Amino acid sequence: MNNRRPSEETREIRSMFGSIARRYDIMNSLMTFGRDHAWRRYVIDMALLPTGGRLLDVGTGTGKIALDAVAKIPDVAVVAADFSSKMMRVGKEQTGGRSIRWCCADALRLPFPDSHFHAVTSGYLVRNVTDIKKAFEEQMRVVVPGGRVVCLDTSPAPPNILRPFALFYLRCVIPLLGWMITKEKAAYRYLPASTEAFKTPEELAGIMEEVGFHEVVIQRFMFGNIGVVTGRRPPVKLNSEQIQSKHLP
Ligand SMILES: C[S@@+](CC[C@H](N)C(=O)[O-])C[C@H]1O[C@@H](n2cnc3c(N)ncnc32)[C@H](O)[C@@H]1O
Repeated sequence: MNNRRPSEETREIRSMFGSIARRYDIMNSLMTFGRDHAWRRYVIDMALLPTGGRLLDVGTGTGKIALDAVAKIPDVAVVAADFSSKMMRVGKEQTGGRSIRWCCADALRLPFPDSHFHAVTSGYLVRNVTDIKKAFEEQMRVVVPGGRVVCLDTSPAPPNILRPFALFYLRCVIPLLGWMITKEKAAYRYLPASTEAFKTPEELAGIMEEVGFHEVVIQRFMFGNIGVVTGRRPPVKLNSEQIQSKHLP
């Protein structure tokens, strides 16, 4: 997606999330057996935000990560960005929603200056973008040198003893549950299909390293079906002149 007009695929994804916005949170809690809350907490912990720091949550949807960050970190300034205003509208109405700056933006062209945020988080965004590398490049650009980028997403079912159950759950249970709760068939067929076709956490970590992130680490949840990949933008290296001037009185 390099031209300025959103592609057909981008428009479809935006409209799909718009159509499930009101039921998104309840579906998420049901599908994850309520574990989504703990994973978001882990994402926020991994961001290592300083008190009073600036956080960008990109692909924020209904702002669950952003809202949890506001509740957890004293004086944090949170910007929540998404290209679906319908998803964000649900988040704005939640407790704490008014202390977040909501911003309609494309994850592949973030409207923020370089090195602006102390950390960038995303939950289930990267599986939906048309260019994963570009999404990480943008996150790297807007985070401060030394800052963390934390990415939570689903993973294709790992090749272990639980794989048949995971596939049954993805292919049969989720579409049925999705239809019962949201009455939208397409979105909860798209979720399993996009998950099965998605990168493993190791592959995502590889892309992050290619983009230039350091200290890339992976944490898996739900028997390996959920992954959190964290990377750090390299801190700026000072040359000897800069080091000397830093130590001058
Ligand atoms: C599955 S929802 C995740 C919402 C939330 N982050 C969470 O943890 O529950 C994915 C969100 O990413 C947004 N999204 C997908 N592609 C995007 C893009 N290129 N730019 C901005 N937002 C995007 C969708 O509109 C949707 O709200």
